[in-house]
Amino acid sequence: MDGNGRWAQARGKPRLFGHQAGGRRVREIVESCPQLGVKYLTVFAFSTENWKRTQAEVTGLMTLFKRYITKEANALRDNGVRVRFIGDRIRLETKLVEMMDNLEKLTEHNDLVHLTIAINYGGRDEVARATKRLAREVKAGRLDPEEVDAETLAKYLDTYVLPDPDLVIRTSGEARISNFLLWQSAYAEYEFVDTLWPDFTKDIFAEILRNYAKRERRFGAVAG
Ligand code: FPP
Repeated sequence: MDGNGRWAQARGKPRLFGHQAGGRRVREIVESCPQLGVKYLTVFAFSTENWKRTQAEVTGLMTLFKRYITKEANALRDNGVRVRFIGDRIRLETKLVEMMDNLEKLTEHNDLVHLTIAINYGGRDEVARATKRLAREVKAGRLDPEEVDAETLAKYLDTYVLPDPDLVIRTSGEARISNFLLWQSAYAEYEFVDTLWPDFTKDIFAEILRNYAKRERRFGAVAG
């Protein structure tokens, strides 16, 4: 969800103003999913690198995440959205982690749309954490190293219950992956759009999905 800062700057406003506007877009995009046939949506809200931002911005974002959860919880539950969080919770404040756990619990029986919010998430960090857990299993004698393959490692990732992404959309004109779902996106299609996240409407989303539907995906095989 890139471009919030620039969107705010262009209006002579502080960066947090852009993050707030970005938060409102999340609602619109999530609500459009059932009609557009999107069952799984993952949004990148805060990366393991975002701690390098000013203290004011980091605190502001954490406050925004708590406000988002408080404000949206009931609507998400009532609209059939199952919410999950990925990322390392260890560095997040206890109150926020508690709210994240509660929202996951509140929506755990929903199945219309699966919304995953990545907070303190980094693809490399996720693979490192997964490897650590896997190594512990080996050390405890519960896992034979010879049996470890890609499928085994995937079970230790934060996303173990989720399908791999079909399409990754990056907003704001940047053509980088920036540590997002590195492992899971091995065969994903990419769309890089110039639109800043606060301007990313459901109509733009729908158009990108229409283009995606025209692509031929071969997963390493030849055309059939
Ligand atoms: C990247 O834009 C955006 C973020 C780091 C924050 C995203 C958070 C939200 C949209 C709030 C919604 C919250 C939830 C929990 C769904 P940027 O700041 O890097 O923008 P720039 O590249 O223009 O500076």
